[in-house]
Amino acid sequence: MLRQGGTAADAALAMMLALTVVEPASSGIGGGGFFMYHDSKADDVATIDGRETAPAALREDRFLGLDGKVKDFPEGIIGGYSVGVPGNIALMAKAHARWGNLPWEKLFQPAITLAEKGYVATPRLAGTIAKMAPRWDGLDATKAVYFQDGRPKVAGEVIRNPALAKTLRRIARKGPRAFYTGQIAKKIASAVSNAPLNAAPMTVADLATYEAKERPPVCVLYRVYRLCGMGPPSSGATTVFQILGMVERFDLKALGPENPQAWHLIAEAMQLAYADREKYLADPDYVAVPVPGLLDEAYIASRSALVSENKARSSYAAGTPPGAEPRTAALSGEVTGTTHFVAADRFGNVANMTSTVQGPFGSQLVAAGMILNNELSDFSFAPIKDGAPVANRPQPGKRPLSSMSPTIVYSSDGKPIFAVGAAGGKRIIMQVAKTLIAHLDWGMNAQAALAAPNIYFDGDALLLERGTPLEAQAEALVQFGHVVRVTAITPSKANAVEQTTAGWVGAADPRSDGAWLND
Ligand code: GLY
Repeated sequence: MLRQGGTAADAALAMMLALTVVEPASSGIGGGGFFMYHDSKADDVATIDGRETAPAALREDRFLGLDGKVKDFPEGIIGGYSVGVPGNIALMAKAHARWGNLPWEKLFQPAITLAEKGYVATPRLAGTIAKMAPRWDGLDATKAVYFQDGRPKVAGEVIRNPALAKTLRRIARKGPRAFYTGQIAKKIASAVSNAPLNAAPMTVADLATYEAKERPPVCVLYRVYRLCGMGPPSSGATTVFQILGMVERFDLKALGPENPQAWHLIAEAMQLAYADREKYLADPDYVAVPVPGLLDEAYIASRSALVSENKARSSYAAGTPPGAEPRTAALSGEVTGTTHFVAADRFGNVANMTSTVQGPFGSQLVAAGMILNNELSDFSFAPIKDGAPVANRPQPGKRPLSSMSPTIVYSSDGKPIFAVGAAGGKRIIMQVAKTLIAHLDWGMNAQAALAAPNIYFDGDALLLERGTPLEAQAEALVQFGHVVRVTAITPSKANAVEQTTAGWVGAADPRSDGAWLND
C-alpha cells in the first residue's frame, strides 16, 4: 500500500484486513480495535474507538449462573454469550475517510487474495487450532476452514477461506454499510442468536446502529518526552502512564535493567496502577472515568510515595484520584489474544493499531467466514460487588473495558519518534510500559526493548519471564519482599517503529510470528 502511494492509514487498515485472514485466532473484522494516527499535515494525533458493543438484549446478569454466582470463566467466554457487535469495519471507514489516499477497495485486495489462494499455517497458528479444536463440536463453519480430513490442520498445511473472501469482496465493492446491514449482518446476528453453544440474542438492529467513535487521545509528559495513547474504553493509556508517572522520580537510567531494584520499582508501580484500573476504568459513555484525576501530578506523586525503594508492599489498593466517584473494584478474567501493528509513511504519518477478537479464536463461532469475537468477556462477570455496582459491569450497548495500549512517543521538539503496542489481554499494559522504559530510560533500540524481559503479576506473586535475564534476579526480588514465580508469561506479541538517523525502522517481538518490512 505504501509503494502504491498510500498513507500509513491505508497500510495499517490493509494489515488489519489481511490479519483477519492469516491470524484469525487473534484479530479481524469479526472483532474490534483502537486506531491511533499521527497526522503529519495537521501535526496532531487522533484516536478512534472501534470497540465492540454489547447487544441491546444483554442483561447485567449475562455472566451469572442460575445460582446467582459468576460463571466459570471458560464457560462464559465461548459461544454466543460473549460476542459483541464488531467494530473494525466502522473504525476502518472513519479512518479511511479522513486519512486514506488509496481507494477503499484496494485495501481489501491482499486479504481477498490470501483468503482465496490460501496461506500456510505457521506452527503457532496450528498450535492454537489444535488447542481450541476440542471446543468445536457442532461448530461446522469453524471446522470447514480450520479442519482437514476430519482433524485440525497442522503446520505447513494451506488454509483457504472462500466464505471470508466473498465477505471481503462484498464490503470492498459496496462499502462499510454492507457489513452492518444486509446479508452479512444477518449472518452475524444469526450465528450469535442460534449458536450451538451459549446462544444469546443479537439483532440486525444491533449491527445497523453500531458506531465507531473518535475519542480524545490521552497525553502526558514523561521525562523529556510527550506520550499519547488510547483513553477509555481502554485502560491502556491511563494505566501505562500511571506506571511511568510513578517511576519517574527514580533514576531508572542509572539503575539499568541488570539492577533488580529497577524491576522492584516497576513491579510496585505496576500493581498500584492496575488497582486503579480495576476500580475506575470502564466505558466513558456509561461511567464517569476520572482520566485527568488518574494522571494528576499530585495524585501520581501520592501514589509514587507508596513505592518504597527497597521493600515490596503487602497490598496494592486503589487510591482516590481527584474527581473520582465512589466505586467498587472488581477483578475481571484473563484472556490472552489480540494483535498489534504499526505503519509509518514517507509523508510523516504514523498509524498505530491494536486489533482483536479477544481470546484465541474469539467466541469460536464463524459467520460469513469470519471469526466472531468474545470481547464481552472483558466485562466484569459480577455486576455488583460488596453491594455496589461495578464500573465495568455488562450493560446493553456498552463497550467492555480494554487493555489495548497503542502509544506514540514525541520528542521534546514535538516529532513522533516511537510507536508501540502489544497483544496479550491485561498483560498488554505491562508489555508496553516495559518497552517504553527499556527504550526511553535504558536506551535500547526498539528491537531490544521489545525483547527485554517481561514482568507481570498474578494475585500475590510477581511473575518473571522464564529464560530471560530476569530469572537471575529472582532471589534479589525475594529479598525485596516479593513472592516470585518464574514463568513463561506467554503469549507475548508486541510491535514497534522507531525514528533513527536512517529513517523509520521497525521491530517485532522475537517471541511472536511478527515481522517488519522497510519500504
Ligand atoms: N482484547 C484485549 C483487550 O481489549 O484488552
